[in-house]
Amino acid sequence: MKIVTSATDLADGCAFVPTMGALHQGHASLFKLAREKSDFVVASIFVNPMQFEDQEEASKYPRTPERDIELAKESGVTHLWLPTYEEIYPEGFAKRSASALGDIYEGASRSGHFDGVVTVVARLFQLVRARIAIFGEKDFQQLTLIRKLVHELNSDIEVISAPTIREADGLAMSSRNVRLDETSRERSLVLYRALTAAAHSSDLDSARTSLLLIAGSQEGFSLDYAEIIDERDFSKAIDTTLNKRAIIAGWLNGVRLIDNMEMKLGDVR
Ligand code: PAF
Repeated sequence: MKIVTSATDLADGCAFVPTMGALHQGHASLFKLAREKSDFVVASIFVNPMQFEDQEEASKYPRTPERDIELAKESGVTHLWLPTYEEIYPEGFAKRSASALGDIYEGASRSGHFDGVVTVVARLFQLVRARIAIFGEKDFQQLTLIRKLVHELNSDIEVISAPTIREADGLAMSSRNVRLDETSRERSLVLYRALTAAAHSSDLDSARTSLLLIAGSQEGFSLDYAEIIDERDFSKAIDTTLNKRAIIAGWLNGVRLIDNMEMKLGDVR
């Protein structure tokens, strides 16, 4: 695996996996999928300040460089790219807007977050001449916005989504999980329980009720949102199950957790 600090040293036509580091098995699964699709896998590590509302949050974002290098190497990355701030944001680089979809759910709680995400991803796509880019379903709203971005850019990059990787007890893997203390880690299962109940509900009303009841009954969990949405535009689901997803987010002892689950086809009318 080559470690490079400039995009000029990257392989053209690669499979690309952008990350902010603090890599875990969820990232490893993206790298492995990328390697199945291409002999050249570029992973970037760049903690993008523009997607944090508060710069202190950005500076507190976990950084585990040695482990990241090991995990990337073991999981099939051929080029690990550690860009500088100046390479990503040359003087005068214009910020993009994530539009209305960037202002709801995650965007409503994290002002400007998705503007920062689409801005950095657009720039990364400009620099990495990739054939494929892989994103996890864990951040489903981000995935939807990136598909929209690729369409707007009229880019040939194929966006491939990869399923959420979970701990044995169901907690979705996330770089933020290391911040959970023992009690919060136990309580964090509330998201998986609420989503599983909703995904298997027999109708939309009971799916929504399950989400809210389970989320509301967990001590210490402060719910931000829980909804059943149409995954194409995040509008509130009103009828069949096709492309419907349960989404949830909240805080446990100051740590923000988000998760989502596909509604089971045919069960919900
Ligand atoms: O999902 C992430 O890690 C980030 O939002 C991304 C896509 C790498 C952009 O900074």
